[in-house]
Amino acid sequence: MTTTTPGPRAVRGAVGVAHTRVEGRDKVTGAARYAGEIPHPDLAHGWLVLSTVARGRILDVDTAPVLGMPGVLTVLHHGNAPRLNLDYVGMLGTPPDPTCAVFQHDGVPFAGWPVALVVAETSEEAREAAEALVVTYEREPHDTALVAGHPDAYPAASHMPAETEKGDLEERLAASAHVVDARYTTPEEQHSMMEPHAATARWDGGRLEVVDSNQGAVWVQSELAAMFSLDASSVRVRSEHIGGGFGSKGLRAHQVSAVMAATALGRPVRVVLTRRQTFTLGGYRSPTTQRIRLGAAPDGRLLALEHLSLNQTSRVYEFVEPSAGVARVMYDAEAHRTANHVVRLDVPSPTWMRAPGEAPGSFAIEAALDELATRAGVDPIELRLRNEPEVGPVSGLPFGSRNLAACFREGARRFGWADRDPRPGTRRDGRWLLGTGTAAASFGAGAAPSTALVTAEADGSFTVRITAADIGTGARTALTLIAADALETAPDRVRVRIGDSDFGHAMIAGGSMGTRSWAWAVTAAAAELRERLAVTTAVPPEGITVRSDTTAALGALARKERHSYGAQFAEVAVDTATGEVRVRRMLGVFAAGRIVNPLTARNQLVGGMTWGISMALHEEAVRDRDSGGHYAPDLAGYHVATHADVPDIEADWVDDHDPDDPVGIKGIGEIGIVGAAAAVANAVWHATGVRHRDLPIRPDRILAATAPDPAGGAADA
Ligand code: MOS
Repeated sequence: MTTTTPGPRAVRGAVGVAHTRVEGRDKVTGAARYAGEIPHPDLAHGWLVLSTVARGRILDVDTAPVLGMPGVLTVLHHGNAPRLNLDYVGMLGTPPDPTCAVFQHDGVPFAGWPVALVVAETSEEAREAAEALVVTYEREPHDTALVAGHPDAYPAASHMPAETEKGDLEERLAASAHVVDARYTTPEEQHSMMEPHAATARWDGGRLEVVDSNQGAVWVQSELAAMFSLDASSVRVRSEHIGGGFGSKGLRAHQVSAVMAATALGRPVRVVLTRRQTFTLGGYRSPTTQRIRLGAAPDGRLLALEHLSLNQTSRVYEFVEPSAGVARVMYDAEAHRTANHVVRLDVPSPTWMRAPGEAPGSFAIEAALDELATRAGVDPIELRLRNEPEVGPVSGLPFGSRNLAACFREGARRFGWADRDPRPGTRRDGRWLLGTGTAAASFGAGAAPSTALVTAEADGSFTVRITAADIGTGARTALTLIAADALETAPDRVRVRIGDSDFGHAMIAGGSMGTRSWAWAVTAAAAELRERLAVTTAVPPEGITVRSDTTAALGALARKERHSYGAQFAEVAVDTATGEVRVRRMLGVFAAGRIVNPLTARNQLVGGMTWGISMALHEEAVRDRDSGGHYAPDLAGYHVATHADVPDIEADWVDDHDPDDPVGIKGIGEIGIVGAAAAVANAVWHATGVRHRDLPIRPDRILAATAPDPAGGAADA
């Protein structure tokens, strides 16, 4: 339990001391209710019907037989749904994905496109009727295959700049003593959060209320208001407990269709996505194909660096997986070129997922650096240290703080890196080949404008209200500790209420920016409240409330390259007879700002590293070219690392208080995955002498690639 000092004035600060989750008891006892299980009187249930063709047009939705089925109340589709507004830019600066604006036309841009919502008295009746609904399509040929050099690829328009370039790349490559030119691919990956999407919509006295599972209640509120042309103040979104998000839980088809149905029927309607439906409607990480060219001087210093990435998006929405962005902040070279390209295919819209850009991008560039280290005969850590840039390689801006070298030093010491024989394929344990690998990690450290309300209650306790989201990160607990310190009280005197858009504008739980953004607002409100209390003799029964807004403070921040860093280490065992790869141990050392709650921070970082193991070895959503849909879109067919796959894994951090943040925070949501897959892949190379450039490193790929190399040199997979 808590190890903080009780009492009205904590002697020590609460920040930095391990604290169990404040809602932990509610979660383990089942008292915490999730969006799909909160009871409502008179609740009706909607079930989405998704297209079975990958491209074409809806010719007919045969509603009559289904409307006669038990319990069925209505069937919404493009022929009867209200028209929505799509002409707006959302609070994150992005236009709406038309996939969420359901039933607006008869076009079908991908397999799994929402074509109808069947609403019934019970979930079972809705499902029965949805499965019986006959939809007739006109089918057109489709293209769902992402291939390098796709003729329709173009520079991304929605993630600027799409391309950066300095120096003469070809000339510097020609002048290099060591050159790496390699392609890397990562597959389609699925968020696979535990709790699928769920929303209940109802009208309450002229106000729309949506109880939802999302990463930002005010985000979903503002999108729904814009889409349905409602005044923002007449929409309230609540999202108290969330069973994981990983980037998937923004505005989706389930909230919009629930609002449509609740409006049409005049009663509360709940729409829950099935696991299978999340594969197409929850977004996903686009597959990437990346090309890296590195040229280096004899000592390994980079003369040329090129990182090109291509990802797929849907016909209706451009989403960029900005994998080439890593090179823009991590490594400099005299000639430097990066490009993020996209291609529109007949596939669902991808979205943000677990370090979008950095996760696949770091796999490619950190593996390429490992290849360069071998060619140059330089230790992989030393190679990175020799290439530490003075300023942002593309921006030219100074770094806020860059403690990558400290992470490598501490990590190498603890992992035992100094004892490593750099030659591959030299260590054995029975039938297992053993190898170790390392990779660097970085992730942006940002903050976005937020507001918070902090109330001094008459009984001496405090209430914090902020539209934060705790998607399993421990954000609610972190904010409790931060507020306690800012109010100079103990955590048990502070009640933090989150997940209600009525609390006002705030950053989402995303971009690893949630806790930092919210903490800033809470700290500002608490500081002003303490000033007010200093000149107050008695707190009135309604309490004293202060509201903060960090817009001006954030606007005054100097422009810098602001990032977290990390060093990842992995040891793997490879059975070349079965193709099995086991990660035996893993260590991540991070410089990620001040750590608010060591207990949940460690969870976050180990969780991210586990994603990395999963990305390296297991995760792959496979699309069938003929149908355009997935093979086995469920957690049986889509493999994520489970307990048996997760080895002795440790995460720790070096001292790295951010001097420009009131609490010293940088953010730890996503950095744990960055570089983790590369560390595993680099270890597989060290174990076997075979370089795997396509993820995941499946047993069949190990088997296909480990044929003895007659030349005796390192083979390429
Ligand atoms: Mo994260 S992919 O910004 O939820």
